[in-house]
Amino acid sequence: MRRLLHTGLNAGGETPQVVGGRGAYFFLSDGRSVLDGSNTGGPLGHGHPRMAEALRAAADLPMVSEGWSWKGRDKAADDLFEIGLVGEDWAGSVRFCLSGSEANDVALSLSQALTGRRAIATRERAYHGLVGLARDVTVQPHWHGGLAAPNGGTRIPARCAPVHVLPPPDEAIYLASADLKSSEPLERRLADAPAKLAQSAAVIIDYTQGGFYHDAAYQDAVAAIARREGALWIADEVVTGLGRAGRAFAFQGGTSRPDIVTLGKGLGGGMVAVAAIVLSKDVVAELEGKSWQNYGTLRGHPMTMAAVSAYLRIVRDEGLLARVHDLEGRYASRLREIAERHPSVARVAGLGLHWTIELHGPDWRNWMADTPEAPIASRVSSRALELGAVIGTSGEQTSLFLAPPLIISDEESERLLSILDESLELADREHNALMNRTH
Ligand SMILES: Cc1ncc(COP(=O)(O)O)c(C=O)c1O
Repeated sequence: MRRLLHTGLNAGGETPQVVGGRGAYFFLSDGRSVLDGSNTGGPLGHGHPRMAEALRAAADLPMVSEGWSWKGRDKAADDLFEIGLVGEDWAGSVRFCLSGSEANDVALSLSQALTGRRAIATRERAYHGLVGLARDVTVQPHWHGGLAAPNGGTRIPARCAPVHVLPPPDEAIYLASADLKSSEPLERRLADAPAKLAQSAAVIIDYTQGGFYHDAAYQDAVAAIARREGALWIADEVVTGLGRAGRAFAFQGGTSRPDIVTLGKGLGGGMVAVAAIVLSKDVVAELEGKSWQNYGTLRGHPMTMAAVSAYLRIVRDEGLLARVHDLEGRYASRLREIAERHPSVARVAGLGLHWTIELHGPDWRNWMADTPEAPIASRVSSRALELGAVIGTSGEQTSLFLAPPLIISDEESERLLSILDESLELADREHNALMNRTH
């Protein structure tokens, strides 16, 4: 029996193992270096010298729990407001925590406490985490948190709260099948949203999951409905915040501003587990005179606070937001070109340095991750690894995603895109064979 439990989806069970990394590359136990093309937790790639230096210095710091005041925590909060949230005058205070899942769970339970409502809302195909209320609003069918058995018999744990699901925004730069985009105007698509949000403590919206990205009109419409119906709006920027979107936050693409923002993943520069929830000034004002009755031993730990400060300064000093914004154009035009050449590609959408390539194939709505064979996206991803790049799959049957480090060079980007291009030939062959059989 293996000592380390392997759990199924994307559990890292493949050989070769990762034995090191530098810049945009992983080093593998078979002696190869491969491009790290899908790693939302590693915004600076591997071994960034300034991150390493900050963490070496932090190794001498005391252990201070969230129950104590710690100067490095105040500094990290100041850095977040002065670098990440500059110009965002609505933002009030930040609280640090351990993971994106936990940040979302905490934000949702705070919303329940503030509104006195139990239900929560999200959009179709969302992923917000694996614990508590964050798992409840994770509505991609295969991320249910239960036990998937091959060919049925899957057990899904009950939810803690009732969940309402809104339709997603569905913009794309490339679309091969009309059924992947709604033909209805936004107002009609959101016709049920007022009734759903009138019962909900909060609506939480993220900007990458399931291949659905930021859409300004959608954001502003959902924000206005939430405000009118008394629900809070939580912007889940766990993937997109502070770099990957090519602006500090994806929500800055719209005119509305959230009540709560959650952050995680890259917030610690890819070197520590740290996350955060940012509350608006209005929400902070509602907390006045009340005591928020919870606490965490390792939240806001000094080591993680040093990492947050170092990461924010690197983003600023290396001009990474502008760099990602430039790369967005390059990825958009190359991916459109690649998609047009490959009949297996159904849809391409993205933002900054996060892109989804969705293949034709079985409907994601029915997939519970209970099929014994590897899905087509996983097989394309294995081919990409043979060719020298890690291309992720989000655990879906048909979706591949690119999320390279923000420090990736033009040449490395070109190499990653060429490997994707070549790997897609495997999907084309299967797609064409299926088409020939059905026609
Ligand atoms: C949009 C979004 N929110 C929250 C999470 C949960 O973050 P974590 O896995 O760090 O708990 C994820 C993870 O993939 C995510 O993509």
